[in-house]
Amino acid sequence: MSVKKKRDRTQFICQACGFTSARWLGRCSECGEWNSMIEERIQAPATQKRSIANASSKPIPLAEIDYKDGERIKCVTGELNRVLGGGIVPGSLVLIGGDPGIGKSTLMLQEAVNLASTAFPILYVSGEESASQTKMRANRLQLNSDALYLLPETNLESIVEHIEAMNPSMIIVDSIQSMYQGELESAPGSLSQVRECALQFLTIAKSKSIPIFIIGHVTKDGYIAGPKVLEHLVDTLLFFEGDREHIYRILRTIKNRFGSTNEIGVFEMTEKGLREVPNPSEIFLSQRKEKISGSSVVCLMEGTRPILVEIQALVGPTSYGLPQRTTAGVDAKRLALLLAVLEKRVGLRMGTQDVFINVVGGVKADETSADLGIVVSIVSSLKNRAIHPKTILLGEVGLGGEIRAISKIEKRITEAEKLGFKQCIVPQANLKSLRSENRIEIVGIEKVDQALDLLTN
Ligand SMILES: Nc1ncnc2c1ncn2[C@@H]1O[C@H](COP(=O)(O)OP(=O)(O)OP(=O)(O)O)[C@@H](O)[C@H]1O
Ligand SMILES: [Mg+2]
Ligand SMILES: [Zn+2]
Repeated sequence: MSVKKKRDRTQFICQACGFTSARWLGRCSECGEWNSMIEERIQAPATQKRSIANASSKPIPLAEIDYKDGERIKCVTGELNRVLGGGIVPGSLVLIGGDPGIGKSTLMLQEAVNLASTAFPILYVSGEESASQTKMRANRLQLNSDALYLLPETNLESIVEHIEAMNPSMIIVDSIQSMYQGELESAPGSLSQVRECALQFLTIAKSKSIPIFIIGHVTKDGYIAGPKVLEHLVDTLLFFEGDREHIYRILRTIKNRFGSTNEIGVFEMTEKGLREVPNPSEIFLSQRKEKISGSSVVCLMEGTRPILVEIQALVGPTSYGLPQRTTAGVDAKRLALLLAVLEKRVGLRMGTQDVFINVVGGVKADETSADLGIVVSIVSSLKNRAIHPKTILLGEVGLGGEIRAISKIEKRITEAEKLGFKQCIVPQANLKSLRSENRIEIVGIEKVDQALDLLTN
């Protein structure tokens, strides 16, 4: 008779999507991720039954549910309000993902200290740093508070006890990968642990109506923490990004049950902590050298906010081998398409040129309205002729070399006007939808070569 204990059985779980398999697979057959299968012990389903409402859940008619509008808690950090869709919703579970060292702890500590008050005590659960390490950071940022409570703990059962005893108004968990539930035998950070712990926090958030922020080492394409699994669970997913060497950091909404996605918040990392950047266009253009070839300005829509950014191109003859195509902030496939248009429709020999594209400030120009700016920057560098510094370029480039209409043209033009631009090149097709009283000169074009005629000296 087999006496093999149940708990000794293991299975392989894809850390990206949660797919389980009895054997190890080099590539997950569900989501296609490589090397994502990790061996974990098979757990008996959690014995604890949970309810997100309360112990005695029952169906309630929608009309009888008590809810007052405008119950959101306003963050002290304006940019955080923006990405959350206008403040913190009580009982919401928010995940802040981002690369190591990007500033997740700094952001949450700053907000927590400024928001906490006697009437609104906040619990900061730190699983990664000791209380004195967090204090050291707080001192550097010149922050102090009587109403922010630090709890250096990783054991979930113990954390839940403290939450019950303290009854905080808001909770921050830094980070979900460091938390573990004693009942589960897999290591902290494994998919089962991350999922179980997140579920537990979800239950606390919903049943006690406490907003909870969980920090996660989640890379957008990485699978280490099972981002997909967490993504479905949380109400809001924010992503903190930017190069570590770069001083600008962008907080982006990836998912939001209570507001628009596409919103971004812009911060500057300083010794005193993260500083909000209320007018990003000014910052992104502040170091621009005028009258230099290969540089143009476009206007991107980040959610509801127009942002002007500089697109730089550097084009030179290929000295050996295949021509190089290097991009930062622009999709490489989009660049290939635009180069093909230049080759075929404008007759430029791009096949013998190296092309480097950079969007200044670590911003992503992933909308087609930036096409015209990219194309003109490339030709400007190729011919070594500058674009007029007070000209802004808006338009999508089609495969036939035609300039196609773009959305939200008014907002973009207004932003350009505000920053002192004198001329705006727009798709001809957008002209009829424009009001007439612009202070900026508006030039409508239909073909990409018309834009190239604008290059001076
Ligand atoms: N003295 C300092 N002056 C300026 N910037 C600093 C200073 N000390 C730390 N920083 C910035 O703070 C960043 C680290 O911030 P923080 O610890 O909040 O990041 P994190 O996302 O929580 O990292 P982790 O994933 O390791 O927990 C550093 O990358 C650096 O940019
Ligand atoms: Mg941290
Ligand atoms: Zn998978």
